[in-house]
Amino acid sequence: MRVRYVLLAALLCAGAAFPQSLRDLADQRGIKIGAAVDPSHFTESLYATTLAREFNQAEPENAMKFGPIHPGLTTYNFDPADQIVDFAQSHSMAIRGHNLVWYNQLPGWLTSANYTPEQLSSILQDHINTVAGRYAGKLSAWDVVNEAFNGDGTLRSYLWYDSPGIGLKGTGYIEQAFRWAHAADPKALLFYNDYSAETINTKSDAIYRMAQDFKARGVPIDGIGLQMHFTTNTGPLASMEANIKRITDLGLEVQITELDVRLPVNSGVASAASLATQAQIYHDITALCLKFPLCTAIQSWGFTDKYSWIPGTYPGFGAALEFDTNYQPKPAYTSIQNALQTAPPLISAAGLVNGASYAGGAVAPGEIVLLYGATFGPSTLDFGAQTSQTRLLFDGVAAPILYSQVGQTAAIVPFAVAGKVSTQVEYEYLGQRSAAITVSVTPAQPGVFSLDSSGQGAGAIVDASGQIVSRNHPAHHGDVISVFITGGGATLPASQDGQVLFDGPFPLLAATPQVKIGGVDCPVPYAGGASGLIAGVAQINVQVASGVASGEQSLIVVQGTSGSQSGLTVWVQ
Ligand code: XIL
Repeated sequence: MRVRYVLLAALLCAGAAFPQSLRDLADQRGIKIGAAVDPSHFTESLYATTLAREFNQAEPENAMKFGPIHPGLTTYNFDPADQIVDFAQSHSMAIRGHNLVWYNQLPGWLTSANYTPEQLSSILQDHINTVAGRYAGKLSAWDVVNEAFNGDGTLRSYLWYDSPGIGLKGTGYIEQAFRWAHAADPKALLFYNDYSAETINTKSDAIYRMAQDFKARGVPIDGIGLQMHFTTNTGPLASMEANIKRITDLGLEVQITELDVRLPVNSGVASAASLATQAQIYHDITALCLKFPLCTAIQSWGFTDKYSWIPGTYPGFGAALEFDTNYQPKPAYTSIQNALQTAPPLISAAGLVNGASYAGGAVAPGEIVLLYGATFGPSTLDFGAQTSQTRLLFDGVAAPILYSQVGQTAAIVPFAVAGKVSTQVEYEYLGQRSAAITVSVTPAQPGVFSLDSSGQGAGAIVDASGQIVSRNHPAHHGDVISVFITGGGATLPASQDGQVLFDGPFPLLAATPQVKIGGVDCPVPYAGGASGLIAGVAQINVQVASGVASGEQSLIVVQGTSGSQSGLTVWVQ
């Protein structure tokens, strides 16, 4: 016996030791893990397989920049960018566009001619239309404007701004670029991207003020990209955290767009100590991003030390990425993996709503709830409590889980919350538990199931023969119809969590519901458990009163001071 257990334990340990790809882990976090790529390496099999295995997002390192993609006034070279888009699509990876407006890598035809602001304005609009338009609907995000600020918070002087510029003052030219980009690709999230603006400093203050102004005036900006080209001296993490907090507090996303940590190298080789320091930085940045639901991507500038801009740009430095020149994972890789595996999930009370009405604010015993926004969970939909690694705890009592996927979990509030004022809710996935949130408990919070699951329009209502009540099959006056709700609260006798009801007599709702159809009170001959359904769904039989008008009528269930959602209807004739 003993030997068998040891063997079993050994097998389990061996299983646990197999590394999970960064991509699999990021999918469980609902975030993007990306890398800047160069399509000229796609034919190198280790480059391609590593990229597709480890990353769920790719960004052209150069292929979409103005010079490379628009080499002549009327000529475009889309091939390299198209290759990246094809590669990403065939490996189900997101694509981040980079970039539309920058001071660098501009073509000679543009910089050497003396265009007027009017001409430059139409050249830029045309460029954005053409490039963003070509990839419209295919990109998750665009860096619309890159590196427009100086370190002292002033605007960088260059072609698009003031030398001679497109005729707009201050951040007006940036705003204009965002508006053009939004018109060309309404689906892509639009980012302002910069370096040395990770911590709170003069430059990040200026970017923040612009973002705040853009948000306030409805300029189509969705986020700020933090490049994060680091040495081992990154600046204080707490200051980066404060900066990400203020940006995400505006409702903007943050994406880490160009992470690399360059090390001093000797013939390309870094010391073990510096590799360990680097690993810690990769870990800490990953963990930092995972503290914010609106930090939605972590991307490195390349992924293999074989191809990195660092040695060419910073002589004496290198070894900046997660994989070495032979595509072997470095300590940095393992540390990103570790951060993705162990960060606590985030949840918020605002994400917890009734599964039928989507009303929030409180929970009732036995209520089917949806928890939106948890930042860790199965990457694909996981049905049923048996197989689920997801747990939702109410004062430590595990709720039956109906299904779970990162960002959305359906569960049934344990009946044990009955009589409480509030409950502590914790969410757990693969053993990582969130901080507890406090949620009010109400005796009942009825939500009526709708036919199309929107919570609105025709209810999921059947007549005595089991036929769905609809416009073509309306309920008649005097008919008894069955309405299904959740949030009806405690029952008599008490219900058991997760119990599916087969044999009557079924428990009855403790708080007797009143039902109004078209504003008219209707008799309720039965309100309690539903045959074949799980405890927490209640069936309410209602007789359509003779005073109810014909047509599509509102239907409201009231228990005590709680009413079901408005906008739910039933057809009567
Ligand atoms: C770099 C590329 O990596 C190089 O290949 C190219 O020669 C110059 O540009 N910030 C950015 C990136 O936004 O576009 C830059 O990429 C690196 C710094």
